[in-house]
Order: sequence, then C-alpha cells, then structure tokens
Amino acid sequence: MSKEQVVVYGAGGHSKVVIDILERTQKYEIVGVVDDDPARQGNYFCGYRILGSLGYLLEQGPNAKVILAVGDNMTRERLALRLVPLGFQFITAIHPAAVVGRDVILGAGTVLMANVAVNPGTRVGEHVIINTGSTVDHDCSIGDFAHISPGVHLAGGVTVEPLAHVGIGASAIEDVTIGQGSIVGAGAAVVTDIPPGVVAVGVPARVVKNVSRA
Ligand SMILES: CC(C)(COP(=O)(O)OP(=O)(O)OC[C@H]1O[C@@H](n2cnc3c(N)ncnc32)[C@H](O)[C@@H]1OP(=O)(O)O)[C@@H](O)C(=O)NCCC(=O)NCCS
Repeated sequence: MSKEQVVVYGAGGHSKVVIDILERTQKYEIVGVVDDDPARQGNYFCGYRILGSLGYLLEQGPNAKVILAVGDNMTRERLALRLVPLGFQFITAIHPAAVVGRDVILGAGTVLMANVAVNPGTRVGEHVIINTGSTVDHDCSIGDFAHISPGVHLAGGVTVEPLAHVGIGASAIEDVTIGQGSIVGAGAAVVTDIPPGVVAVGVPARVVKNVSRA
C-alpha cells in the first residue's frame, strides 16, 4: 500500500513525539519538516530535512497533507486559520497504543499519544492534543485546539472548550466545563465549572488569575 505524504509543521519536543507516532503507524511518508526559526532552515530534525518556514508551505501549496506539531494552542490555531482557506488538509496522528472507543469523533489534525484512552460517545475537535497516558471518559467534548496534558483524567460528560489547556496530572469530575482558553494547573482537581480565560489551580481547582496574552 502506498503511503500518504505528510509535512510535519514544527521542530520542537512535541513534534518529536508526533514524528515517532507517524513512523509507528507506517501509514505516512514524512516528506520533511517546516519550522519558522530561520537559523534551522536546511538542517535535519529527527532525520528529516527542515524544508523552510510557513512561506515555503504557502509557496508549495497543498501538495502534501500537514500536521501541526506545535504544542502552543494559539499557534496551532493561527497556523490552521492561515492554511485551511488555501486548501491544506490535515492528518490525525494516533499512536498504535491509544484506545479509541465506539462512536468517538476525532477532528482533523488531532494527536493521540501513547496509552491514551478515549471512551465511547466523546467528540474531539480539530488540532487537539491528547497527551501521553491521559484518559477521556464517555460523552466528553473537547474543543478545537485544546490540549489535554500527560496523565490527565476526565470523567464522563466533561466539556473542555476550544484552546483550553488542562495541565499535567489534573483531573475533572463528571459533567464540568473548562472554559475557552482557560488553563488548569498541574495536578488540579476540577470539581466545578471553570470560566473562560482564567488560570485555575489546586485541589479543588480555584481561579487565581486571568490568562495573560503576550
Ligand atoms: C498553572 C500554571 C500555568 C501557572 O503558571 P504561571 O502563570 O507562570 O503562574 P505562577 O507560576 O506565577 O503561579 C501563580 C500562583 O499559582 C501557584 N501555582 C502555580 N501552578 C500551580 C499548580 N499547578 N498547583 C498549585 N498552585 C500552583 C504558584 O505557586 C503561585 O502562587 P503564589 O501566587 O501564592 O506564589 C503552571 O504552574 C502550570 O501548572 N502549568 C501546567 C504545565 C503543564 O501541564 N505542562 C505540560 C505540557 S505537556
């Protein structure tokens, strides 16, 4: 079976893990990496050539599919908003050791890392990261460009709105909502709704400040 060609966008730590997943699936031929750091152009990353920056992709047009392997939620959103209207299409990267239940919807560009479980009836949006060893139980809704960090556990019916970041090792009880763009700190326990645009930490999670946008 011929492999589908894909360009990996990003040459950082997160990208390294995404490349490892793509290699393991054996479904894709990685034709190269794109990164916006001018100093890295022409170098190699994980054995793949850094072909250029965003401008390179725009010049090439949508010849190959793309995966946005950048950890920052807002950067993934910015890049998708630039590339989608030009016809670029995005693949999902699902580690062979991830378990996806029945009636789960995974949006384009979404990444599921090793030992993730997504249980039945959950809807995962586009360009979401569900990171190593996290579990998302039944009937959850994970919005576009959200990041569920390693070791997070979400009970059934949890809503994570777009661009939210749930920190490493955090958990959320059933049916709570984590608001758009909010950040839940490492190790927090979310037991009530978290409004949009805030940072919440602790057990139980309490809002400590608004998210600052650089
Ligand atoms: C919550 C978080 C985003 C806050 O970072 P920040 O904006 O730089 O905030 P600060 O470090 O200034 O912390 C603000 C206050 O919250 C406390 N705090 C920060 N993170 C906390 C956490 N996870 N649990 C409890 N308290 C925390 C700080 O001690 C500080 O308290 P103080 O005002 O009494 O001194 C960060 O600490 C965090 O937990 N990030 C998660 C990172 C992660 O999951 N990475 C995985 C990537 S794959």
